Amino acid sequence: MSLVPHNPQAGQVHIGLGDRSYDIRIATGLMSNADAWLGLPKAAAALIVTNETVAPLYLAQLQAALQPHYAKVHVCTLPDGEAYKTWESLQLIFDVLLGQACDRKTVLFALGGGVVGDITGFAAACYMRGVPFVQVPTTLLAQVDSSVGGKTAINHPLGKNMVGAFYQPERVLCDLSSLNTLPPRELSAGLAEVIKYGPIADMAFLDWIEQHLSDLLARDPQALAHAVQRSCEIKAWVVGQDEREGGIRAILNFGHTFGHAIEAGLGFGVWLHGEAVGCGMVMAAHLSQRLGLVDAAFTQRLTALISRAGLPIVGPDLGAQAYLHHMRVDKKAEAGDIRFVLIDKPGSAVVRGAPDALVAEVIQACCR
Ligand code: NAD
Ligand code: GLY
Repeated sequence: MSLVPHNPQAGQVHIGLGDRSYDIRIATGLMSNADAWLGLPKAAAALIVTNETVAPLYLAQLQAALQPHYAKVHVCTLPDGEAYKTWESLQLIFDVLLGQACDRKTVLFALGGGVVGDITGFAAACYMRGVPFVQVPTTLLAQVDSSVGGKTAINHPLGKNMVGAFYQPERVLCDLSSLNTLPPRELSAGLAEVIKYGPIADMAFLDWIEQHLSDLLARDPQALAHAVQRSCEIKAWVVGQDEREGGIRAILNFGHTFGHAIEAGLGFGVWLHGEAVGCGMVMAAHLSQRLGLVDAAFTQRLTALISRAGLPIVGPDLGAQAYLHHMRVDKKAEAGDIRFVLIDKPGSAVVRGAPDALVAEVIQACCR
């Protein structure tokens, strides 16, 4: 039985953070639903930040939705890719904001995946010391994870997401229709973050994912709606208790410590973030098993599901020392000691260290 309550109202999840509280709305065709845009902060201008892949698909729709509410709707179109989650892209956003004399009430809209969402949120946190922003996530990964919870960042050449801020959006609008144009590899990457919520918080949700995986891969709207809703409910429950990751929020990083090492070791962008997280969960399950926390059946079950989702389950052979080196740069590391998110029993996670020798054994067993 999961501790995370189910929201009785389908299509809506509330994040309770006092005066920073907001709603996530989830529906097919949301971008063209006039009601979705009511009640946002009033301002003379809005700025849509998007990228060159998403703009031809959804920019016109979002502009049309915003034009009744803002006298001016500016656009900043960034190059596409994790490689552009940089100071230079942030600067392009500030160039438009300042070039158009945007004031401190200007509302930013992030239209795209997690890269656009993270950069736009950070730009909103910085511009004139903080302007409102709205997340309009268009990837599965962004709808179930990155658009929710207020982590914003850009990358530094020495580390991913190392420069950023906690800054909450005004609203998150998940239009499930946008997932129809997502490349299959990106859909699978998003499924990694959906699967993550089962082992850490809700084994009944893991059962459901197992039963409905083919519907999710076929982009069945009802299946996607449930997957996004339940993922957001779990994330909202965790973030509502620990906005700034002083404790429980770290469990959302299940699979991310090994995953981060894969991304950094191969070079960012070679594996997608969700692919690295999927394989990282397999490795974290093996480590949990070797520490006696879960049995082999649990590890096999999770590995089989991750594989069925179209994700890699064997890590790249970077060598144990390279993995350990990259994992020490992880934000969870304390004084160089790596902290892993492990499953202490199915449906519950714990953050703890593990002996390097044992971690190296897991790496050797899980990589080639
Ligand atoms: P992404 O933003 O790079 O999007 C993936 C690809 O899909 C891009 O090429 C993008 O242009 C394209 N795309 C987006 N929407 C599309 C659509 N509807 N149709 C067709 N193509 C579309 O990657 P992502 O997986 O969405 O996000 C990954 C990023 O999110 C990473 O930078 C990661 O660090 C970050 N992240 C942040 C958090 C957080 O809490 N802030 C959590 C998880 C991940
Ligand atoms: N994706 C991890 C977090 O939001 O904390």
